[in-house]
Amino acid sequence: MGRNPIYTRVYNQLKYQILSGELPIGSHLPPERKLATRLGVSRNTVVRAYAELESEGFIAGRMGSGRRVEALPPAPLLTRVNWNSQSSYNHLASSPSHMAELLSITDAYPDTINFAHGDGGKHTLSSSCFPDYVKAAAEKVQSYFFTAVHGLPLLREQLVEWMGMEQISSPEQVCVTSGSQEGLYLITSILAKPGDCIVTEMPTYFGSLQLFASLGIQIIPVPLDQDGMRMDVLEGILARSHPRFIYTVPTFHNPTGRTLSFVRRKQLLALSERYGIPIVEDDAYRHLHLDAEPPSPLNSMDQSGHVIYLNTFSKILFPGLRTGWIAGNQQFIQLITRLKELSISTNTLGQIALASFLKNGELAPHLATARNLYREQAQLMESQLAPLRSLGIQYEKAAGGLYFWIALPEELNPRELMHTCMKSGVSFTCGDMFLVREAEQPYIRLCYTHEGAERIEQGMSILTHVLRKQKEAFS
Ligand SMILES: Cc1ncc(COP(=O)(O)O)c(C=O)c1O
Repeated sequence: MGRNPIYTRVYNQLKYQILSGELPIGSHLPPERKLATRLGVSRNTVVRAYAELESEGFIAGRMGSGRRVEALPPAPLLTRVNWNSQSSYNHLASSPSHMAELLSITDAYPDTINFAHGDGGKHTLSSSCFPDYVKAAAEKVQSYFFTAVHGLPLLREQLVEWMGMEQISSPEQVCVTSGSQEGLYLITSILAKPGDCIVTEMPTYFGSLQLFASLGIQIIPVPLDQDGMRMDVLEGILARSHPRFIYTVPTFHNPTGRTLSFVRRKQLLALSERYGIPIVEDDAYRHLHLDAEPPSPLNSMDQSGHVIYLNTFSKILFPGLRTGWIAGNQQFIQLITRLKELSISTNTLGQIALASFLKNGELAPHLATARNLYREQAQLMESQLAPLRSLGIQYEKAAGGLYFWIALPEELNPRELMHTCMKSGVSFTCGDMFLVREAEQPYIRLCYTHEGAERIEQGMSILTHVLRKQKEAFS
């Protein structure tokens, strides 16, 4: 039995019969007592249901002839749809649109020197044999048809092998998604509802902030220091509130490039166990170390099954593939798969190409080449950033990931710098995108991997020129 009073069931039943035409306009409704007997309810129940339908204009009683279904109410000839009030996402219109803004750069300014997008750019593509795998996949007839909701079985098998974690031992613990952004959307939709809160590093990946804001989810920020997310602050939060989950990018964090130390990883897992809070580990940058390998993923250290692991091919291959994956305990993956089913599945062509690329052992050499390229690009960009220290800019040497997170001298305005550079043909991202409160902040983020050497030099000299001019204006 539902929680609704019985009269609402009678009311709903009659209303649907009227709307569907089963009870046409003008048809007679049975007298109260007769209907009550037929439905096995009290007369009062029918009286209330009829009263409700009458107040809404569905039926009307006439002296001597009982109740009948009413004619359709008069409607104006034209009623415009109000699209804003059609959306059930109340927070969508008011949340920032950073992702669309960033993605529009390539179409609106195809020649701009792009330090804004976080990916390996054209040179990584041209040094990879992956396009051959796409061509080969396009010749396979099964590439053009659906595959399983949670992904091509062969790709899920390969992912289990590639991750090499004791905790993820079966392809049934993996769900392939349209990029890790979709993965985060699915995870968040399962774990949290509007008004709930989650915890995350601050600053953090702007796509996650935009997603949480659009879904009406409150964000409790935790600052980072050199060793990553501050566990003392996190503990204080968990002791006082019950967030739905902790979202973290613990390895070569976007945008700061910092990595959660091994000791803190253990503390984070212990806190998650103690307070019963799931961790969503976004590991997009793990394989992009320029020097030493980072500590193991949280997921591989997890003894409680609390960690949900999220990763993507966007940073290690190409973002246009739109292929990522979620891995975790099978029960949770089953829930994710039910939700993913609503958008059917991820594109088969890319999954077939990826599965054979991984099966043939091509990913490891591809990454080795990419890392060598990225190391050179990071060094080149840094050689042009170093002289700017004398102007008051601050940054940390890149250890991995794709970015320099740069603090400008306090008199310079990051947005102003960004707009002037954009006019001169250089784009980058402004630090406020990575913060919940878009208060005054001194940061910009430069990606060192999207452009090849020549364009990095050109772009950096334009940026240097604009920065010096803006700085001079204050001296
Ligand atoms: C930490 C992090 N997670 C997820 C993404 C989005 O990845 P995808 O292209 O797989 O949706 C990004 C992209 O910048 C990112 O930095």
